[in-house]
This record gives sequence, C-alpha cells and structure tokens, in this order.
Amino acid sequence: MDTIQRIGILTSGGDCPGLNAVIRAVVKCANRRGWDVIGIPYSTDGLIQVAEGKYDPEHLRLTDHGYEIPGILQGLDVLQFLSGTILGSLNKGHPGDPEKIAKILEGYQKLNLDALIAIGGDGSLDIIYDLAHRGGWNLIGIPKTIDNDVPFTERSIGFNTAVQTVNSALYDLTFTAASHDRVMVVEVMGRDAGHLALHGGIAGGADVILIPELVPELNPLVVTQICQHIATLRQRGRKFALVVVAEGVHGEDGTPLHLVGEHLATAIADRSRTLCQTGDTAYCDMDQVETRAMVLGHIQRSGIPTASDRLLASAFGRKAVDLIAEGRYNRMTVWEAGRVRSKDMDDVIATVRSCHQRGVCPGPVETDSTMVKVARSLGIYVGDPNTLPDPKAVMQEVPAIAHSSY
Ligand code: F6P
Repeated sequence: MDTIQRIGILTSGGDCPGLNAVIRAVVKCANRRGWDVIGIPYSTDGLIQVAEGKYDPEHLRLTDHGYEIPGILQGLDVLQFLSGTILGSLNKGHPGDPEKIAKILEGYQKLNLDALIAIGGDGSLDIIYDLAHRGGWNLIGIPKTIDNDVPFTERSIGFNTAVQTVNSALYDLTFTAASHDRVMVVEVMGRDAGHLALHGGIAGGADVILIPELVPELNPLVVTQICQHIATLRQRGRKFALVVVAEGVHGEDGTPLHLVGEHLATAIADRSRTLCQTGDTAYCDMDQVETRAMVLGHIQRSGIPTASDRLLASAFGRKAVDLIAEGRYNRMTVWEAGRVRSKDMDDVIATVRSCHQRGVCPGPVETDSTMVKVARSLGIYVGDPNTLPDPKAVMQEVPAIAHSSY
C-alpha cells in the first residue's frame, strides 16, 4: 500500500493535441488508487495565484465525475477527444525573478502535494525541473510537443496528430495544385527539428521536404536543386509539385526567416525563370511556373487527437502514476522500442541544457534515420544532390506528356 494521498498535474509550454488525454489517464489511474488529483491552472502562474489566495486548492480537484454534460457524456472520458488543455498552459520561459520563484514555491507548498506530474516540452520541463529542485518537489515529467524533439523518447504527445494534420493538408492541396500545375510550398512547424515536416511530408506525398537537419539554409545551390527536381518531375509528366519546408530552415545567410515558405516559393519561381533565360532549356517548362505558399501554423497544434496520440497519452499517464506509486521520482516517461519506460530527468535535462548552450536541437532527426532513407528511396528531394537525376537526361528519355497527366 503506497502512502500517496494527493498529487498535482500541470501542462506547460505550447499546447498540443493529446494533453487532455494525459490528464484523463492520470486522473483515472490516480483515482483508482484512491489519490486526489489537483489540477494546477496555467502551470506556474497557477501556483502564484494559489500563493496569493486567488485559488482555493480544494476547488482545483479533478475527478472522473467532475465534468458532466447531462444526458450526453459524463466524466473525463470526453476529454481525450479534445485538443488544448483544460488546465491552460504557460509559454513565457523561466520566471527568473526571485520573488516570483518564491511565490511559486509557496503556492506549491500550499497545495500539500505528495508529487507533481508535469506535461511539457524540452524548455518547459527544464523550467519545472529547476523549480522542483529548488522546492524539493517529487517530479515526474511527461514529454509533449508536435516538434517531437524531446531527447530520450521516440515519441512525444501531440506529434502523431500534427503529422496527420500535415498529411491531410497535403492531400487537400494536391487537387488544387494539380488543376493549375502549380508548385505548392507548405511551411510546417518545427522550430529546431524536422520530424513533423519529414513524417507529414512523406505521408502526404511531398516531392520536396526541407528540414533543418539536412538543409539548414536555403542557399542558391539548394534552390537550384529543388528547381532541378521539379523540372525533372515535369519532364516526366507530373506537372504539379508539393514542397514541404520546416520553419526551422534558415535563409541564405543562416539567419531565421519569417515566412520561410513564402521566401522559398518566390525563390523557386525566380530561379527557374533565370535558369531558362540563361539558356538551360530543361527549365523552360518551368519559366512560368506558378508557386503558392501557405503556412499551416497553429492548426498543427490542434485537431482531434489521433488514436495513436491517445494511446500514448494513456500509456504515459498510467506510467507516471505507477512511478509515483513506486516512489521513483525525478523521472520522465519515454517511448522506446514499442514500450513505455522512464528515464532519469537529470540525464534528460543535462542533454537539453547542453544542446541549448551549443545552439543545437536536443532531439533532432538523425540524418541516417529510417524515414530519411525512406524519403530518399522514394525520390523525394531532401537535400542530397546525389539522388537527383539530371532533368536534361530525363527530357531525352521521356516524350512530352500532356498537361494533366500525373
Ligand atoms: O514547440 C512547438 C511549437 O509549435 C513550434 O513548432 C513553434 O515554432 C512554436 O511552438 C510556436 O509557438 P507559439 O505558440 O509561441 O507561436
């Protein structure tokens, strides 16, 4: 019999699909053990409010019977189908100010918790980890982010749903792109990592996928190679193209670009025209190519959480409760080789900090990963010049094909 009576749960950092499914799983598993679960609103901001007496801790209790829509749905079950987080979240970085930190620690004390489950990304878990050390909290972390770049776990909550969103957007764009023989450039999220662009792009049939791990900058060579790839497709009769670019891909001089997709769409149109005008006839089919850019934006952070994300949320929620029951604190749940396990938060946060100090992503796409190999094998341009056929050779190979054959 464990001695736990009361645990807290909070969501921190940018939201993503599946957070509510984790909350549901934690509450269900904890309630079955007879524990109370206190839902902390707006992460550390909520703790400050508790310290200032603006929230009564007893009103923050989450139970499986706490939400009722009479006659339709009862309890927390409906939550797993809703994006966002019923607790609210906070994306403002480390509180820094010692007075604020003292308030946060005071609020936590007031809640009288035996342990805390924090659902966050690399940055937000780092902040909560720091506060937990200062306050002596018994912490369990659960990784979430559509970027999927938390180290030590193959999957984070929200990633699979975001992949599905990118995949659906590409599907929807295919038909309008094909109707006008256009090049559609889709900018997807992924501040430092290309997992979302890579997975969503492959699933959605992209012809070009640019991720920061393989193509850190949009230099002239990269743009020319993309034009070359699209020209080859067109010579083969496929007149439209789908280009996915992760927001983390930088401009030519290595600096971040606002609206990198717009920039790329213009660069593709301009470079194709120039290549044709300078006498390279392989590009003359492209000299008038129409490009359009769209930013998928925060829609990727919403949508109905996929079954896969809900399963991961359920598995992580249960594991977090089990870790607390076993008294194994300072751990983060991870997905590894088809199983849920846990890792020492000291190792996770040491990696996060050392990567951030060096300005590198803590959980990047491995450049020799299966999905990179899959993309290359499918003939998707991901930045490797060796995989590109010469459009001039293809021009001789393939007779001119009618406008709409794809
Ligand atoms: O880290 C997740 C993420 O969605 C990134 O992909 C994106 O750059 C960022 O959050 C956007 O954050 P905000 O909601 O602050 O615009």
